[in-house]
Amino acid sequence: MEYNFNEIVPRKGTDAFKLELREMFFGANDVLPLWVADMDFKAPPAVVKAMQDRASHEIYGYTVRDKKFTGAICSWLRNQHQWNIEAEWIEFSPGVLPSIMVAIYEFSEPGDKVIIQTPVYPPFYSIVSENGRELVKNSLIETAGYYTMDFEALEEQASDPKTKIFVFSNPHNPVGRAWKRDELKRIADICIKHDVLIVSDEIHSDLCLFGNKHLVMADLFPGLGNRIITCMAPSKTFNVAGLSTAYAVISDKKLKDRFHKRLWAMQQHMGNLFGGIALEAAYNDGAEWLEALKKYLEENALMVRDFIQQNMPEVGFVLPEATYLLWFDFRKWGLSPSKLRNAMIEIGKVAMNDGVSFGAEGAGFQRMNIGSPKTTIKDGLQRILKVRNAVYSR
Ligand SMILES: Cc1ncc(COP(=O)(O)O)c(C=O)c1O
Repeated sequence: MEYNFNEIVPRKGTDAFKLELREMFFGANDVLPLWVADMDFKAPPAVVKAMQDRASHEIYGYTVRDKKFTGAICSWLRNQHQWNIEAEWIEFSPGVLPSIMVAIYEFSEPGDKVIIQTPVYPPFYSIVSENGRELVKNSLIETAGYYTMDFEALEEQASDPKTKIFVFSNPHNPVGRAWKRDELKRIADICIKHDVLIVSDEIHSDLCLFGNKHLVMADLFPGLGNRIITCMAPSKTFNVAGLSTAYAVISDKKLKDRFHKRLWAMQQHMGNLFGGIALEAAYNDGAEWLEALKKYLEENALMVRDFIQQNMPEVGFVLPEATYLLWFDFRKWGLSPSKLRNAMIEIGKVAMNDGVSFGAEGAGFQRMNIGSPKTTIKDGLQRILKVRNAVYSR
């Protein structure tokens, strides 16, 4: 089947976060929205059809998620990631962030330390520090745009008896790494040695590009046992983030029971009727659409790379191993982070996520979402070029 990712689907009038909150975040409503990690593509036809069919029933009361739901997840993980799980390991959650929050509440106490690897998805900061835990930043190491981990620092941070949890982003948002086996092994060894629980956020796992493969930490290292919770969702993969449907996979029964109890205590267990419908349709019938999507995203990423090489070779950019989020290094333009941000908004009229919102390491960077038709991405690139021309004509 052909899927038309070139189609411009107007989002105006749909209350899209990406559009409606531009004034709040950028102080302008006329900026091209290349921020927020959702895509401007229609969900797979199978998902749309399943939701339309269900909508036509006209009663939308409380529902349960049964074997169809867990069965779809089991086969998806087996087919996509060669991960064989039991249905009993799955716990529904309304989002990956809620899953992380439940884990933080259940498996750490106020004042305990939680490690994150910065620069990273901004809510990782607030979910730790605004819930009374102490944030420990394990800075990634950047070398010519490619990011690796500082294992020495990680080991030292994990060895602190107050450190209870490591919230891990794999693949990593925003640096686009799909972590390799030897990197995952070092983390697993450190966390086993120092008894630190890994909350592995694998929300972008289905979006590995350019032949990279997602490796599921929990599957690779069964020795982690009761020290790992894997958080996944169809939301990024199939562009259904507004349906609030995710899940955690926990093979250790005691750990799973505690997670389950806390999820219910926090009243996070009900979920959204349409989310379950979408997950099942996407996981059962969306694999072909996903392959086509990844191909389109690769084309977009290559188009961006070529444009940068030809028009602004000083901008640092490495093709992502995964995700539809590109991480640009504008430091050579010599602007302060706030001047860079303002120039993008005021001169370029383009809204990307500001690098510093991911942490101090993001100063001078911007994150662009390429989950849009090529014409939109081209428009975005021209806007960035306009900023560059203004900077270089000073
Ligand atoms: C790494 C990461 N985790 C979690 C989320 C949000 O997940 P959810 O909407 O399921 O809470 C995002 C969204 O961009 C993300 O990039």
